[in-house]
Amino acid sequence: MWHLSFKLSKNSYLQTRQAPKGGTIMTKWMNINGRRVVFEEGETVLEVATKAGIFIPTLCARPDLPSFGACRLCIIDVEGNRTYPNSCTLPAREGMVVRTATPDLQTVRRNVFQLILAEHPSYCIICKEHDECEKVRHGEYKAGRVIGCFTCSNKEICEIREISEYLRVKDIRYPMLYKNLPLERDDPFLVRDYNLCILCARCIRACQDVLGYSAIALTKRGHDTKVGTILEVSHLESGCVFCGHCIDVCPTGALIARGSTWFGTPDKSVTTTCNLCSHGCQMVIDVKWDKVVNVHPPYELSARREYCVKGRFCIPALVNGRDRLKYPTVKRKVIKEEQYPVPWDEAITHTADKLKGYKPEEIGIILSPSLTDEAVYLLLKFAQRVSTNPVVFIEEDIKNLQSQGVKAIFSTFNSNVFSEFDGLEFLILQDIYQSNSSDTAEVVLPTTMFAEEDGTKSGEEYMKYAINKAVEPPGEALPSWIIVSRLAQSMGLDGFNHESIENLQDEIRNAEPLEIPKVSKQQLEYMGVPIADKVEEFRLYITSKRAINQSKGKGVLDVQI
Ligand code: SF4
Ligand code: SF4
Ligand code: SF4
Ligand code: FES
Repeated sequence: MWHLSFKLSKNSYLQTRQAPKGGTIMTKWMNINGRRVVFEEGETVLEVATKAGIFIPTLCARPDLPSFGACRLCIIDVEGNRTYPNSCTLPAREGMVVRTATPDLQTVRRNVFQLILAEHPSYCIICKEHDECEKVRHGEYKAGRVIGCFTCSNKEICEIREISEYLRVKDIRYPMLYKNLPLERDDPFLVRDYNLCILCARCIRACQDVLGYSAIALTKRGHDTKVGTILEVSHLESGCVFCGHCIDVCPTGALIARGSTWFGTPDKSVTTTCNLCSHGCQMVIDVKWDKVVNVHPPYELSARREYCVKGRFCIPALVNGRDRLKYPTVKRKVIKEEQYPVPWDEAITHTADKLKGYKPEEIGIILSPSLTDEAVYLLLKFAQRVSTNPVVFIEEDIKNLQSQGVKAIFSTFNSNVFSEFDGLEFLILQDIYQSNSSDTAEVVLPTTMFAEEDGTKSGEEYMKYAINKAVEPPGEALPSWIIVSRLAQSMGLDGFNHESIENLQDEIRNAEPLEIPKVSKQQLEYMGVPIADKVEEFRLYITSKRAINQSKGKGVLDVQI
C-alpha cells in the first residue's frame, strides 16, 4: 500500500519481548494457528505468539510496558470462546487452541482500526494517490498542525501506517472527526498535539508504571477522555522531569521533542554513550546534513532506563552551537594584542617551544572529567613527563596550583579562576566553546565533543562504554588525545606516536587501571561550559523549576535533572 513495502518497524511488538517472568518455570503447550508452541506459566498469548514468531497486530501493547488492552487490535479466536479476547492481556493456558488471523478476525480488526482512524488525521492513509504523493513529498511538510501524514514528523516510523498497510485499509466507514484540541507547546522540551492521540496510554504507563512519575494521566471521561496533567497544569508544574520516555513509546506523532520536528528522516542514526555525566546512558544520535538533530534512547531502553533532561534534550543545541571553537589561535600583538587563527602545526610548535622553557614544578595540568578515557590516559601520561604537580580537575585545586608557583597551565576546560591566577604567564586552553578563558589564554586549541569522536568512557560500576562518532567536528577541532599526542611529540617526548585510537586503546589495556574522576548527574556543566548558557530551553527549564520550587517553599536549588 505504501511505497515502502510493509515490514515490521523497530517499534513493532515482534522485535523484542519481555524476558520470561520470574519464579518457577513450568513448560506447557498450546496450539496457535495449527502449530504446537511451548509457553511458560504467566505468559500472555501475545507473548507466546511473539516468541514463536507469529505476528499479531498491536498498537497499545509494548513488551516493556504492562498490558492495558486499549486498542483491541490484538484480538484472537480462542476455541470454545464466544468472544474475541485481547491476546495482550489473556494468560496462555495448557491445551488452548488459538487462531490469530481468520477472515472474520481481520474484518473485526479492520472495523476497530477504522474507529481509531476516524478520530485521527487519517486523510493521507486512505488517499488513493498517497503512493505517488509520497514519492514527491518524501520529507514531511512544515505546518503548525498535523493534518495528515505529509505534515507529521512521525511519518517514517509510524505504527498506525504499518497497521493500515497490514490490514489493507482503503476507506473509513465512520464519520471522521478532527478533535480540534489546542496544541501544547509552552513547555521547554515537548510539543504535544493530542489531536493525533489514539488513547493507547503507552505514555502514561511509561511515566507512571515504569518510571514512577505521575506527570500525566487519562483525564476527563467518555468521549472527552484525553491524556493530560492532573488539574491541567503545565508539565513544568506537574512533576514531569522531561525524561522524554513518553515520546519514545508513543506510536503516533502526538508527542515530539521540540526542535526535532522539521528534519524528517535522519540520514543516519549512531548508537553511542552520553558523556555529559558518568552515568553512561546509551543513546542514539540522529544525524541530518551532518548535524545532530535528535537524541533518544535505543528502542530496547526507551521505557526501561530513565534519561535525564540534559542528555535527552540538550545535546543537539550543545553540539551545534554557533560559538563552538573551530580553529587554533595564538595571541599576538600586531596592532593590539589579539587571538589570531594559525595552522595546527604552528599552534602546537608555539606551545611546545614555550612549555619547554618552564621547569616541571612551574607547569600545571588541568583535566576535564568529561574527556574520553583515551584522552584522560594520555593527558595523565603527558603530565607525568612534564610536570611535578598533581593533575587537578576541580576549581578549588586550580587555586592551589597558584601557591605551588605554577606559571604555565595546560587546561582542558575553562574556569573563571584563570583571570585571578597570580603569576600565570602562559595559559593553553583546549576547549569547545568561546569563553572568558579563551579570550585570556595565549593559545586556544579547539577540541571535539563526544558526538564528534570515537573512544570509550568509564561509567558507574566500572563499566566501560563505547563512544562512537556521529558527526564531523566544527572547523578544524581535533579529539583531545590527538592534541596531547601532537604536543608531546613536538616537545620531543617518546611514547606518544599512536597511529590510531585502536593503537592507543591497546596500550591502555596493558597499563595500570585508571582512576577516572566522575561527573555527577546533577552537574550543570559540560567541560566547564554551563549548559544553561548554551541551551535556551534548559535555561528556561531551570529558571521555571526554581521559581516553582520557591513558590512551594522548597529550596531553589532542589531542581531534578
Ligand atoms: S501519526 Fe502521523 S504519520 Fe502516523 S498516521 Fe497519523 S498523521 Fe500519519
Ligand atoms: S517526560 Fe517523562 S516524566 Fe514527563 S510526562 Fe513524559 S514520561 Fe512522564
Ligand atoms: S499521546 Fe501517544 S502514547 Fe500517549 S496515549 Fe496518545 S497516542 Fe498513546
Ligand atoms: S495490543 Fe492488545 S489491546 Fe492493544
